Amino acid sequence: MKLIIINGPNLNLLGKREPEVYGTNTFEDFFTELQFKFQEVQLEYYQSNIEGELIGKIQEVGFTYDGIILNAAAYTHTSVGIGDAVKAIDCPVVEVHISNTFQREEFRHTSYISPGAKGVILGFGLQSYELAIQSFL
Ligand code: DQA
Repeated sequence: MKLIIINGPNLNLLGKREPEVYGTNTFEDFFTELQFKFQEVQLEYYQSNIEGELIGKIQEVGFTYDGIILNAAAYTHTSVGIGDAVKAIDCPVVEVHISNTFQREEFRHTSYISPGAKGVILGFGLQSYELAIQSFL
């Protein structure tokens, strides 16, 4: 099974960024743990701070991979383009968030990703990604 985790803007700063919300682990360290835990999965990771690059990656993998685990970060709440890309591809997308966005500001309660997603997992910290992988197995 071939899965990719796609992370949006500012998630490259995990570990440093608002640790009270997002924790103290870097995503790279966490990703190494995930690869070890799910050795039966061909797991890839891509991060970009740029909306068009995220759309490009979704289009690139979306017709051949078995699934995408997508944390579009702030673009979740603003990007019609990423939402459309999720709907345009063949493979299922599981939307994840580290924080429980519904406990936060009102603008984080809207997602342009959810209408095209197979499911949504949020609020479990980095474990949200792990639960998303399990959902594909
Ligand atoms: C986030 C939640 C978003 O509202 C925020 O803009 C992020 C991260 C999360 O994983 O909790 O950057 O997607």
